[in-house]
Amino acid sequence: MENNRPVWTSKYAFIITAIGSAVGLGNIWRFPYVMGQNGGAIFLVTYILLICTICFIPLLNELYVGKLTKKECVGAYEAINPKFKYFGALNPITGILISAFYFIVGGWIINYICKWKLLSQISDYGEYFSKFIAEPVYPCLLTLLFIFICVYFTARGLKNGIEKANKIFMPMLAILLIFLVIISLNLPDAQKGLEYMFKPDFSKLNFHMVLAALGQAFFTLSIGMGALLTYGSYIKEDKTLVKSVYTIILSDTTFALLAGIMIFPAVFSFGMEPNSGAGLVFVTLPKIFSQIPFGDLISFAFFVLLFCAAVTSGISIVEGPCATLTERFNMSRQKACALLFVIISLIAIPTTLSFGILGDFKVFGKTLFDFLDYLTSNLMLPSNTLILCLISGWYLKIKGYKILKNKFSESLFDIGLKFIVPIALIFLIIAGLK
Ligand code: TRP
Repeated sequence: MENNRPVWTSKYAFIITAIGSAVGLGNIWRFPYVMGQNGGAIFLVTYILLICTICFIPLLNELYVGKLTKKECVGAYEAINPKFKYFGALNPITGILISAFYFIVGGWIINYICKWKLLSQISDYGEYFSKFIAEPVYPCLLTLLFIFICVYFTARGLKNGIEKANKIFMPMLAILLIFLVIISLNLPDAQKGLEYMFKPDFSKLNFHMVLAALGQAFFTLSIGMGALLTYGSYIKEDKTLVKSVYTIILSDTTFALLAGIMIFPAVFSFGMEPNSGAGLVFVTLPKIFSQIPFGDLISFAFFVLLFCAAVTSGISIVEGPCATLTERFNMSRQKACALLFVIISLIAIPTTLSFGILGDFKVFGKTLFDFLDYLTSNLMLPSNTLILCLISGWYLKIKGYKILKNKFSESLFDIGLKFIVPIALIFLIIAGLK
């Protein structure tokens, strides 16, 4: 079986696909609004500090465990110790649950792309958005379409599907982003947005904000559901894994920063609020687009950009469970993907309806969408990371790593895996429980 496993066609293919996984809605949709809710620049400083220190460790660890074991999640955990396979199984389950709500937002993006002409003529964007997501049929169809697109590329395999999609969508994303940043920086009063992003107000520093930054950092780097472990397992030989991790972190942060530089100057230029939450991208921005010359084209470009980011991440979310099905159940990739399409759709459809006709159906006091978001982002992702760090810190002998340059960094990494990251994660999980 092992000989049949796919491998990346080149180092570039691996790096761009891993960056494609990291750069997603987390950067362009979530990062600006979480930053807006947590005080702007001070959040950014904390986030960058965390991403370069605490997050570096689990990211390298996930990729390394994949590369070392050359197995999908369940098999990888099992290879470390057969008892751990049940923990491994939590990864594809998390993946399926995350995809159910992530792909709904993907469906919304498709709507905003298709309606680019109409969008400039709306009078109340908030009302338009809440009416649209509450519809019973149309958002469901769009969600199904988005699931289909992600699953389709995954089904075509590593070389012809996953790599190809990333090689097309990622450069497109970068070009559109730079184009929109230039437009945004040329709006009147753009510097107010930049000040908000880059001039820290230390009075806003608090523990809750630090945890929000940590949660955002883990989510944006795609840590915690075996997506990167699976990608790591397709690496043939690579003695420069640490360098790849730096590249992933640097690129992901650059994309998030550029997304901020694209969004905040526009928001401030039009005297709007930066802390409008999840509606920032779907309500505030379209309103801004409607007020600038060629706004409909700019809006189109923006939502295509968001689509590119979401698809490449969506593919990585599907690939984890897909690898588990193909390798453990001996299924063909196509069959596994067809099955995943059905499973994800069955969860995603009621979740989509939770904005409308199923709005009164509550799980632990939350709508299905909020519950899935909460369960996966606040609890499952950090728990999976916690488990994997402890497993590799305590059971996988670090000495065999041979990826870090010297004894000192090996010891730091070891202490990080065994103590520092788990403690940070426990705080995150406890805060998430509230
Ligand atoms: N990192 C992606 C984003 O920022 C989302 C994502 C893809 C993800 N794969 C993941 C999040 C795995 C957690 C785990 O949008």
